[in-house]
Amino acid sequence: MRDPLSKMVQEIEPSGIRRFFDLASNMDDVVSLGVGEPDFDTPWHIREEGIYSLEQGRTYYTANAGLLPLRKSICKYLKKRIDVKYSADEIVVTVGGSEAIDGTFRAMLDPGDEVIIPEPCFVSYLPCVQMAGGKPVRISLEEKDKFKLTPEKLLGGITDKTKMVVLPFPNNPTGAVMSRQELEAIAEVIIEKDLYVLSDEIYSELTYSGDHVSIASLPGMRERTVVINGFSKSFAMTGWRLGYAAGPRKIIEQMIKIHQFLIMSAPTTSQYAAIEALEHGMKDVERMRVAYNQRRQFLMEKFSEMGIPCFEPFGAFYVFPNIQKFGMSSEEFATRLLEEKHVAVVPGTAFGVCGEGFLRISYAYSIEDLKVALDKIQEFIDNL
Ligand SMILES: Cc1ncc(COP(=O)(O)O)c(C=O)c1O
Repeated sequence: MRDPLSKMVQEIEPSGIRRFFDLASNMDDVVSLGVGEPDFDTPWHIREEGIYSLEQGRTYYTANAGLLPLRKSICKYLKKRIDVKYSADEIVVTVGGSEAIDGTFRAMLDPGDEVIIPEPCFVSYLPCVQMAGGKPVRISLEEKDKFKLTPEKLLGGITDKTKMVVLPFPNNPTGAVMSRQELEAIAEVIIEKDLYVLSDEIYSELTYSGDHVSIASLPGMRERTVVINGFSKSFAMTGWRLGYAAGPRKIIEQMIKIHQFLIMSAPTTSQYAAIEALEHGMKDVERMRVAYNQRRQFLMEKFSEMGIPCFEPFGAFYVFPNIQKFGMSSEEFATRLLEEKHVAVVPGTAFGVCGEGFLRISYAYSIEDLKVALDKIQEFIDNL
């Protein structure tokens, strides 16, 4: 019998996060600081809107690109939050930011086109580029640069085949953010080299040192950028599976075509709930952001007391402590911590080889849970 599988798909590595969680799922009483999703329930008024839409019998497909009122709300939101003006036909509503990332690469890449992926970063960019026929080119960001993308690093990855750059800020797993000035320096290179940007702004509402800035808002960048965002993180709506891409009409049109054949339309109930989220949910976003910030500060203080160096993150809900001084690999540290103390964290290497020597710790958990986990981490390092 011949091999039923595609060689290309078989060559794609499974996510390092999943592998680690499979280990944890076989254990009792694991305290997890591993998961990248809000611990808050979706705010009640948003859930209620979803329920109401079902009561009204709104159980049909929507327009392929998404409900027009939702796309209009997204445009209004983007104008207000990132100061970029989009029209409704420059938005496609997708199944999470995940589908928007995949669709962007599929719409923009030809075989062999290179895409620069700054690591450490979210796990899906690399396989999505490969599945779209592109060639991922990883560049390693460093703690000494606060895990920001610098123009020098970017230039080091560019060849005559480079077409796109992924800009993953606020960053999962490091929590790094980029300021306007730092983005301006990146935009200069992008324009000079005639490149495009996929700017993953899914954590844009979770910043702790001033407002998020989108590269799309800089002069000359709107037409070169696809902004990815969604409802999972900011509105605590992971299970609703709703996100979107905003970008030049020419690109979005092609993305809608792909989405039409693959998905038809994003979940209808979720789309109605998302309108409520954007129109009336910003106070909830702020409430959750304040809680995350308290946890972030708590963790920073604790790590400093414990003598574990940790770069201060100003975005998302992760910290990325440096564990090099313990003389173990990230994988070994995380595996032993899980086996010996039943605390689950993610090895930094799940987000790229340059994550070696770091752990990703999520603070999408209550202060009480964080305290229990940190006491166990302290016991673990005391016994080393
Ligand atoms: C940086 C980043 N982008 C995109 C996503 C995808 O989120 P979703 O598909 O739930 O919108 C995630 C999820 O963890 C993420 O961390």
